[in-house]
Amino acid sequence: MRRWRSTSEAETREIGRRLAEELAPDRALLLTGDLGAGKTVLVRGLAEGLGVDPAEIQSPTFTLVREHDGRSVRLLHFDLYRLEPHEVEAAGLVEALFGPGVKAVEWAERLGFEIPGALRLEVRAREGRREVVELEQATQDSEESMAIRKVGVLGCGLMGAGIAEVAAKAGFETVVREVGQELLDRGMKRLRGSLDRAVEKGKLDGAARDATLARLTGTTELEPFADCDLVIEAIVENLDEKKRIFGALDALVQKSALFATNTSSLTVTQLAMATERPDRVIGLHFFNPVPVMKLVEVVRTLMTDEGVLAEVTAWCRAVGKTPVACKDNSGFIVNRLLVPYLLDAIRALEEGVGTVEDIDEAMKLGCGYPMGPFTLLDFVGLDTTYYIAEIMFEEYREKRFAPPPLLKQMVQARRFGRKSGRGFYDYAGK
Ligand code: CAA
Ligand code: NAD
Repeated sequence: MRRWRSTSEAETREIGRRLAEELAPDRALLLTGDLGAGKTVLVRGLAEGLGVDPAEIQSPTFTLVREHDGRSVRLLHFDLYRLEPHEVEAAGLVEALFGPGVKAVEWAERLGFEIPGALRLEVRAREGRREVVELEQATQDSEESMAIRKVGVLGCGLMGAGIAEVAAKAGFETVVREVGQELLDRGMKRLRGSLDRAVEKGKLDGAARDATLARLTGTTELEPFADCDLVIEAIVENLDEKKRIFGALDALVQKSALFATNTSSLTVTQLAMATERPDRVIGLHFFNPVPVMKLVEVVRTLMTDEGVLAEVTAWCRAVGKTPVACKDNSGFIVNRLLVPYLLDAIRALEEGVGTVEDIDEAMKLGCGYPMGPFTLLDFVGLDTTYYIAEIMFEEYREKRFAPPPLLKQMVQARRFGRKSGRGFYDYAGK
């Protein structure tokens, strides 16, 4: 990682001039960072370095094509911060972003566009000083980053539907599989509902929704996964089921494909070993609701290939998520901390510390959590929470991970939470 510091506009401009050499001939510069930290000044310096008259640059958005040193240089500067992904697509900017030429893009990670081989810089303002920091290169070269084109998602439940939605929305051809037509129809209905809500709220336009749906195929078969580049498993939290499906797909899916699991609590290692490609297996732990939650825990095992790690990390960014690297331990980071808390809330209820409503209200208002523990348990699914707790207890043999009797009984009574219409709360008619 490199870092440049400046205390004046002239110095920031000089950094831009020096970067111009690195950008030639066909490399993009992606700029992100603080407002007012001098991104435009940096781009002006870059333009000067490329032999472009800075006076011709009008912010926020411009395109210049110039002959420079006998070659054609295209300098683009898009103030993408102002735009939503579908607006970028609708304005036809994607082609320009990925096309040839030198590109300087004021870029927002949330947009999820990844430009292969780009030089990624963050510009920060720190007590009157400017700092330009080179961000980790997400991808090594364009061929590698372009390797993921088709994504296969196993399971179209709460998580699978969300993962398929974000993959297709980000422009990837996506196939999602369920075990039966009825389950598939239900999952696809949820997915369409989520896209429709986004349209109603003005976050997505109708054309982008239709384009997303056109990139999506639902299936009950495994064959459509054969030519996938990335397969993400989001089926029930059960080791044998997950091993079985990975084993079956290993024989079917092209050898170059990457396998990812969305498991909440199993170790990725044991799933990787169910395949003949353990170096190409990784954990991608998304959060519920997938279209909203920004985090993906990226879990590498002892066997995971470095290039695979870089590729899926870049893919997470490409679908608009923020990846965080985790070691392969049961529960990774979030569930290691969240699951004992949720289980403890049930124990508090069992002990009569407060009612479901009061415990929820207390944690919402007392800690500023968006949901109280029982609303969240119903949201995650009590069945899934129970499986997670069993697995984590088995792994750690610590009481804090053990499923409380009330949780077990509620699962036995098929009160799975929101998805079955009843959990700690009643959702009948909702
Ligand atoms: N799908 C798509 N979008 C959704 C959604 C869904 N299921 N649910 C809510 N949203 C969107 C809404 O459309 C809304 O968007 P805008 O702000 O753009 O209008 C936004 O999310 C906020 O929704 P609401 O205003 O309706 O409700 P809210 O403010 O209460 O937020 C929430 C809802 C985002 C779910 C929030 O309550 C929250 O963050 N809850 C905690 C969720 C959480 O902790 N998830 C992690 C669970 S653990 C896990 O996932 C790991 C595991 O392995 C078990
Ligand atoms: P879910 O019960 O809503 O959905 C699971 C779906 O997988 C079901 O519809 C089931 O029919 C389907 N399925 C089972 N076997 C299958 C197979 N062989 N092929 C295709 N589909 C199959 O569960 P969920 O909440 O979506 O959880 C899925 C996975 O994601 C689990 O590993 C879970 O631990 C993990 N996870 C869940 C949450 C959450 O909040 N619910 C969050 C993060 C991760």
